[in-house]
Amino acid sequence: MSGKQAKLTVGDQSIDLPVYSGTLGPDVIDVKDVLAKGFFTYDPGFMATASCESKITFIDGDKGILLHRGYPIEQLATQSTYEEVCYLLLNGELPNQAQMDDFRSRVKSHTMVHEQLQFFYRGFRRDAHPMAVMCGVVGALSAFYHDSLDIRNPEHRQISAIRLIAKMPTIAAMCFKYSVGQPFIYPKNELDYSSNFLRMMFATPCDDYEVNPILARAMDRIFILHADHEQNASTSTVRMAGSTDANPFACIAAGIAALWGPSHGGANEAVLRMLSEIGSVKNVDDFVRRVKDKSDGTKLMGFGHRVYKNFDPRAKVMKQTCDEVLSALGIQDPQLELAMKLEEIALNDEYFVSRKLYPNVDFYSGIILKAIGIPLNLFTVIFALGRTPGWIAHWQEMIANPYKIARPRQLYTGAVQRDYVGLQQR
Ligand code: ACO
Repeated sequence: MSGKQAKLTVGDQSIDLPVYSGTLGPDVIDVKDVLAKGFFTYDPGFMATASCESKITFIDGDKGILLHRGYPIEQLATQSTYEEVCYLLLNGELPNQAQMDDFRSRVKSHTMVHEQLQFFYRGFRRDAHPMAVMCGVVGALSAFYHDSLDIRNPEHRQISAIRLIAKMPTIAAMCFKYSVGQPFIYPKNELDYSSNFLRMMFATPCDDYEVNPILARAMDRIFILHADHEQNASTSTVRMAGSTDANPFACIAAGIAALWGPSHGGANEAVLRMLSEIGSVKNVDDFVRRVKDKSDGTKLMGFGHRVYKNFDPRAKVMKQTCDEVLSALGIQDPQLELAMKLEEIALNDEYFVSRKLYPNVDFYSGIILKAIGIPLNLFTVIFALGRTPGWIAHWQEMIANPYKIARPRQLYTGAVQRDYVGLQQR
């Protein structure tokens, strides 16, 4: 409690509402009591609604702050590793050496998927979108790991969490291998998380893949920068599915489905498609004109964010990583030049400035992924892989505390009650 109270007056009724203070962020008005007085609250898109209490991630969109368990994303991205961030998100504290070693060895003991799972892939067309495949395969995990599906058992929840974190790189790489018709590559547990993923992606039975440490570090950073983002659309979807007591694999599959949309995780793929469509720097002005013309319906993909209205702190680190990777690989990417021109114009244009539209994390991630050799339609799969610890941490937090099934209400504006009229009389 904050010691404050809000008073809501509707006509001649007055409703006292408690106000809560978190450790950071705005105070929150508890509107539950309006139901007893015969009202619902209305907030489409949940613009001003806190759907839960959480201790995992804090965002201040105006100041461009993103903290995981209190630690700034810039520090985690440059000083930590993805495995350590996974531990932090799941457990609330950074691990000591023994805890880190134990976590790594637990993850490594679950990197393979059940041999039978490969037949799920074979049911898909080779040209299926990898997100469709990933969504199906992750949901199918619940049919393979019956021994860890009791959501009331903390031990089961732990095992499912480790299984998901360990198997997502294997599943993602298998999505790629299946799409190009190459044999699946088994995980190699002597490698670190991101190097193992790159090897499963790019090795073949004929040629092993020598992992470039710069690319492995960039991959790890991309995973860290996507690891969690508070109550975004996919995480809220995971929580909502979890509130029905669905098993964790089903909940994460629901999150993957929500992430797929181009307004969310699908944006990194959409950015590169947009850059290809623009084609060359000379077409940028014309494209920006189209974006500003509302009747055209074109959006500048990789720009804008529901929460960040000054800058996306992840985008800053991502841009720096992008420069590092391209210079390490000696790549002169004309699409990067195009992206920089687009960024420059947009950051100085009144349309974007007045609406507080800035590059988000996805504006740069696609360029790095392309340089690493990851194909376009796998970009959102990479995002899903990176976001997995966040989804699980939120699911765990919800299940370990009292919760109710998520069941919003509505402002009904349809027909009032009327009598059915038989077909002959219509
Ligand atoms: N290009 C052009 N105009 C835009 C863009 C954009 N990318 N984003 C927002 N606007 C405009 C809107 O048309 C609106 O204009 P208006 O006030 O004249 O009507 C104004 O800016 C406010 O936009 P909203 O849609 O209200 O912002 P909202 O917070 O609902 O949407 C969203 C945020 C969905 C991310 C939006 O900015 C967008 O679609 N961006 C492009 C897709 C993208 O990059 N998504 C990735 C998000 S980050 C992530 O998921 C990791």
